Amino acid sequence: MHPITPRTATNPETSPQPQAAYWTDLGTLYKCPVEDFVDSEWGRAVAGCVQLLFTSPPFPLNEKKRYGNRVGKEYLDWLVQLAEPLGDLLTEDGSLVVELGNAWEPRKPVMSTLALKALLSLQEAGRFHLCQQFIVHNPARLPSPAQWVTVERIRVKDSYTHIWWLSRTTRPKADNSKVLSEYSAAMKKLLKRQSYNPGPRPSEHRIGEKSFLSDNGGAIPPNVIKLKPEIEPEPESMLEVSNTVSTDGYRAYCKDRGLRMHPARMAPEIPEFFIRFLTEPGDLVLDPFAGSNTTGAVAEDLGRQWIALEPEPEYIEGSRGRFGDRKLRPRRRSARA
Ligand SMILES: C[S@@+](CC[C@H](N)C(=O)[O-])C[C@H]1O[C@@H](n2cnc3c(N)ncnc32)[C@H](O)[C@@H]1O
Repeated sequence: MHPITPRTATNPETSPQPQAAYWTDLGTLYKCPVEDFVDSEWGRAVAGCVQLLFTSPPFPLNEKKRYGNRVGKEYLDWLVQLAEPLGDLLTEDGSLVVELGNAWEPRKPVMSTLALKALLSLQEAGRFHLCQQFIVHNPARLPSPAQWVTVERIRVKDSYTHIWWLSRTTRPKADNSKVLSEYSAAMKKLLKRQSYNPGPRPSEHRIGEKSFLSDNGGAIPPNVIKLKPEIEPEPESMLEVSNTVSTDGYRAYCKDRGLRMHPARMAPEIPEFFIRFLTEPGDLVLDPFAGSNTTGAVAEDLGRQWIALEPEPEYIEGSRGRFGDRKLRPRRRSARA
């Protein structure tokens, strides 16, 4: 076991340490900004112990959102000063996986390059290698930016985000056999038939006699994660991406207590993919911008230790809904009558 942080709730009046908002046997959510955590006793206790930093930082938007995005150069400077301390939390073969959304210039039909600059700044300042780039495609995304896509119709809808997998070593811990996807119908047929036409292909690849005849339990997935749309009963959530049990619990929990759901929460299958791919049970996963704590809840389900950091009380309260009743301490407050 890693020296995971203490979980006793401390008194904010007397303790300068980040406050544990809730915890389970496997993890803790701290109510604090990441800057306070990395400088704290708890942060120092887990330096060199985190196998996966998985996160979606506040996006580099051009207009401020409710959770206080920085903009432009201010955003880059802020991210850069976090690169080194976050990298120091990782094990030698640990990974940093970061989602950076697309952004557009205000009032112009042109894209901002800030997300790309953010990636390059983070990579350089944190001394990371870029292990691989992933795309998360959400076909159910609303057509946006609306002015250019649906009003003037001079751009097409923006429906994906980038996920960047970084590491300080060129060979971080990873095992793609943990994230196999179901074989296609054609491949299943081929495995049954046990024969196909070997030889050269137009791509100049040469396919051997037996190259595709062994059943490895599934296909090696591509670096494109496609989210499945799911129609929700409530109009406001009609276009949300498909989700697992933990999101259903989250939605109901927020609704019962009159809490606003996190506006930029992630589909659980994204952290699930990377946690399975890059960690083993018992490893420590940390999300420094936890929001509704999708990462912590998925890590919990997969038997990984976890730490989540989030300063916004309303998001923290809602995130409790991602966990089953018996798991959380201190106990949650009950729903409004
Ligand atoms: C894009 S959201 C993360 C959403 C999350 N992945 C989820 O599924 O709910 C980014 C979060 O970072 C939080 N945040 C903003 N500044 C922060 C800081 N300095 N330290 C930690 N969290 C911060 C925001 O409150 C917001 O909830």
